[in-house]
Parts: sequence; C-alpha cells; structure tokens
Amino acid sequence: MPEASSLFSGVRLRTPRRAVVTGTAGFIGSHLALALLQHGVTVIGVDRRGAGADHAAAANLAAMHDHSGFISITADLLTCAIEPLLLDADAVFHLAGIPGVRPSWGPQFGDYVACNILATQRIMEAATRLRIPRLVVASSSSVYGATNGTPSKESDHPRPASPYAVTKLAEEQLCLAHAARPDCATSVVALRYFTVFGPRQREDMFMHRVLTAALNGKAVQLFGNGSQRRDFTYITDIVAATVAAATAPADNSVINIGGGVTTSLNEVIDLARRLTGKPVQVETASTRNGDVPATHADPRSARRLLNWCPRVDLATGMAAQLDWLASSQHVAV
Ligand code: NAD
Ligand code: UGA
Repeated sequence: MPEASSLFSGVRLRTPRRAVVTGTAGFIGSHLALALLQHGVTVIGVDRRGAGADHAAAANLAAMHDHSGFISITADLLTCAIEPLLLDADAVFHLAGIPGVRPSWGPQFGDYVACNILATQRIMEAATRLRIPRLVVASSSSVYGATNGTPSKESDHPRPASPYAVTKLAEEQLCLAHAARPDCATSVVALRYFTVFGPRQREDMFMHRVLTAALNGKAVQLFGNGSQRRDFTYITDIVAATVAAATAPADNSVINIGGGVTTSLNEVIDLARRLTGKPVQVETASTRNGDVPATHADPRSARRLLNWCPRVDLATGMAAQLDWLASSQHVAV
C-alpha cells in the first residue's frame, strides 16, 4: 500500500516560496508542512507542542526534520510574538487549534475559545499589519450542524451544533471580517474540511479507533447505532486543496473540502473487517451531544475555485492508514 506522501505522485502543486504553517505538530499540519517542504518551500512551523510533548507530536514532527528548509518553533500562539514568525511569508496556513466535537461541552471550552478564536485574532492582526498576501484558515464541516441530508453549500445558513463548531464558525468569520476591511491587503480563504483520515490521524477520531480495533482485537465504542454518515476525506487530498488555496484566485472565500460522497460508520466497520480479514468488536454506547447525523459536502466551489477534486477513495485511504498503524508502534497487536 502506498505511503501517504507517495499518493501525491503525479500531482504538480503551485506553491508559495516561504510559508508559515501553524499546528505543525498536529495531524493535518504535519502533512501539509511535509508536502510544502517536498516542493521546495521554506516552512516556518509553529506549534505549542514540541517533539517532547507526546508520542503523536514527536512522530508528526519527525517527518520533517530531514528537511533543511524547515524552521520549527515551539510556541503558544496565545502569548508568543507573532510578527517575527510571519515576516517575509507569502502565505500563512493557520491550522493550529483545538479540534474535536465532543470534549468541547466540558471545562475545556475555554481552551477552544482561546486557541480557536483569540489566537486567530492575534494571527490576523499580525498578518494584516505585515500585509501577508494570503491566509488560509482551517474551518470545519461542523459549522453546518444537523442538515436535512442534502449536500451543504457554503451559502447555507450555518447552524453549529456544538461549542467546538461555534468556535470554528467564529474563527473563519473573524478572518473574513479582517480581510473585508478596505485597508487590509491580506486575502483569506477559509476551508471547511470534512472528516479527514489517513496516516497520523488523531487518536480520538473514529477511523483511527476502528482500524486499531481491527488490528488489536479490542472493542471500539460506537456512539449511537452507526447510521451516522460522514464525507470522509483523505489527508493527501486535504493537503492538495490547502496548498492550492494559497495561490488560487479565491479572495475572501469559504470553500468546502469534501468529495460529496458519504459513508455510514457501519459501512466503515464492514470495510475495516474486509480489509483486515479480522472481526471488529463493537461496543454500543449512547449518542453524544453535538454529534450530527450526517456531513455531506457540495464540492462544486472547490472544483471551480481550486480546480480540486479528491483522488483517493475510502478503501484505498483506509488501507494506507491501516498500513501505517500496523507499521508504526501505535497498535499493540
Ligand atoms: P491536531 O490536534 O492534530 O493539530 C492541531 C495542532 O494545533 C496541535 O498540534 C496543537 O498543539 C496546535 N495548537 C493548538 N492550540 C495552539 C496554540 N495556542 N498555539 C500553538 N499551537 C496550538 O488537529 P488536526 O486534526 O490536525 O486539525 C487541524 C485543524 O483542522 C484544526 O483547526 C481543526 O479544527 C481543523 N479541522 C480538522 C478536521 C479533521 O477531521 N481532523 C476537520 C475539520 C477541521
Ligand atoms: C471530525 C473531527 O474530529 C473534527 O475536528 C472536525 O472538525 C470534523 O470532523 C469536521 O468534519 O469538521 P467528527 O465528525 O466528530 O469530527 O469525527 P470523529 O471524531 O471521527 O467522529 C465521527 C463519528 O464517529 C461521530 O458520529 C462520533 O460520534 C463517532 N465515534 C467517534 C464513535 O462512534 N466512537 C468513537 O470512539 C469516536
């Protein structure tokens, strides 16, 4: 099965020369930074987690250390001086934030507000002062909330159903509000990513947990009856869209990044069984607050504005993630 990076082969990406990536120790930020480095871009990577923080951050950052063009900064965007990080950048990719729908109901909400909104305000203030040409910000399919089952268009009225989703909507709108000022030279592209999967996916996410359960024989908890549907989007496709957004003629826009194909959790479990040839133990648990029945992208803006469509289907992507899980020491088989 191909490595995630080799799924880029044949794809020619138009890239900036010098870019800042926030959230580089994370799942998506680490893939984005690596792809940019592989295309000769100088990358200033910022994250508050250093390689010593946890095994996931260490593994994510390790992927980049061979590249001389990588400048790694361990800093909290809430407190560090931002302007020195952004100097001379052609593009800022702002992916740092607190993800995850379910924990946003609890006492961690303050961290969601701080990292997703207050830190974004600091980034936008610095980017506009320095007249950075383009800022790409990671938004989320969760801003749509519970939909009527039809594909979500960017012009649909957002109805975020969780505190997390509220902060992501605030984050993208905050960036766009800065960009709309007549004196602002920074244009913004907000990408609404739809459930991203692939190697190095966060351990709290369903795909990671179901594939881990298939490999180690332990049970995965299923919140609800498994009929929830997600527009699963593979990591290299997410990266390709994100890189394209840095240079595309798409000033001050919001764009869905999802292929428009949905799959239920039950279908994912079946596929995990077929791909591994092993049973998957499922333990049913209650539906979680804020969990929407379906996410479903209308991908037409991405096609029109970014010339983007996904190249990796669910089974191919799951096989690559399985391969990574089996070869890394993430699963005690
Ligand atoms: P992740 O948790 O793996 O990565 C986020 C990184 O941001 C972490 O390494 C974290 O340390 C860093 N960070 C958070 N607050 C920070 C701060 N104040 N200063 C410096 N660094 C900080 O998450 P991910 O899955 O890679 O998601 C990346 C972005 O994409 C997030 O903004 C998330 O909301 C968004 N998103 C993710 C998905 C998905 O399916 N993974 C879907 C939609 C949107
Ligand atoms: C995911 C990401 O976690 C968010 O960061 C992102 O913003 C969002 O996608 C998005 O698309 O914008 P979510 O859809 O909740 O959010 O993705 P998972 O955490 O993988 O959950 C998917 C489904 O599996 C949910 O219905 C969840 O309740 C269920 N699930 C999750 C389980 O049944 N068991 C688990 O152990 C974990």
